Amino acid sequence: MTSSGARGLLGEIAEVGRDARRGGYTRHVFDDAELELRAWFAERAERLGLAVTTDRNGNVWAWWGEPGPDALVTGSHLDSVPGGGPHDGPLGVVSALAAVERLQTAGFTPSRPVAVVVFAEEEGSRFGIACLGSRLLSGALSAERAASLTDAAGNRFSDVARAASLGSFGADAEALARIGVFVELHVEQGRGLVDLDAPVAVGSTILEHGRWRIDVRGQGNHAGTTALVDRRDPMLPAAYAVLAARRAAAARMGSRATIGRLEPLPGGTNVIASRVSAWLDVRADSEKDTRDIVAEIAAGVAEAAAAEGCEASVVEESYTGEVSFDPRLRDRLDSALGGVPVLPTGAGHDAGVLAAHVPTAMLFVRNPSGISHAPEEGADDAAIDAGVDALVCAIEELA
Ligand code: GLV
Ligand code: MN
Ligand code: MN
Repeated sequence: MTSSGARGLLGEIAEVGRDARRGGYTRHVFDDAELELRAWFAERAERLGLAVTTDRNGNVWAWWGEPGPDALVTGSHLDSVPGGGPHDGPLGVVSALAAVERLQTAGFTPSRPVAVVVFAEEEGSRFGIACLGSRLLSGALSAERAASLTDAAGNRFSDVARAASLGSFGADAEALARIGVFVELHVEQGRGLVDLDAPVAVGSTILEHGRWRIDVRGQGNHAGTTALVDRRDPMLPAAYAVLAARRAAAARMGSRATIGRLEPLPGGTNVIASRVSAWLDVRADSEKDTRDIVAEIAAGVAEAAAAEGCEASVVEESYTGEVSFDPRLRDRLDSALGGVPVLPTGAGHDAGVLAAHVPTAMLFVRNPSGISHAPEEGADDAAIDAGVDALVCAIEELA
């Protein structure tokens, strides 16, 4: 494995979790594809002489040297959104393995423990809460709350965790204390580096972001026999929510609001739904803007629901305040890399969760399409190589 080793590793997993219907990849925590990737990661890390363990929250650690304390940790995640791209998550994992191998080959001896980590359920695509593994580990999400989460098929997280031999999940002060500094390399999820014509950037901030569940209940009925005046159709307030989300975000500079998942029950072409669930994702520069957007949408949905004889509820599922990555670490990496662009992002990351506890930095790698969470996502070969070079440099600087 040289710096092209990251590309070789990506090639090895290119067929795992391909989604023929959606395009791209569907790799959800503890599904067959994600389990295959975990096994592949362990085998690859062990070939480098790293000692692999899985913590009580399903995060996988590959240790170069004795485990912590005060370790330099790098890595990312192997799960994806439904129909996601190839690099959101895996690029950070393969780049970490390639960087460790390069340093080993060069005879580098780290002065502190180094670990490559794979965090569990970063996307929250199965159980609804993004960065589930790092939130549990750091105590940002309680074990009780996690235990009550269910996937789309109704499986409880507690049962799935037990089947995956996790034992008792929850805050893991010992695992957290082993992390002295965390650096996550990630494909850029926008066009910042394309516009700047540079392969690698250092991260500065992550927008405030959260997820809310909107449920609208009406009366299921027959699409042909139910007069319009007699309907209580929850799809109308749900449709209003979609439009209100765009309007509310557009009114606040730099804000984003999205409904990317809408589930009518029972979901028949000739059936007026009895209930519609929609998931709202909002991101903004400030907590005020984020909360105002949600409040505006919720008020509009309540009004639209009342007009249709329906009932609506809006429940917060997760919230993360704005993240500013450690400025001293950011500047140190920037100068070790010879001065690279410093970019903010609207995407959430495990690095954002850990930033509340330990000095944390991110490296972003150019993505020519600027597209992410879709099959067209991907860093170009030159940028992947530059990303590994940057991570090697970061490890040399910090370890
Ligand atoms: C994760 O990629 C997110 O920003 O939702
Ligand atoms: Mn993602
Ligand atoms: Mn990611």
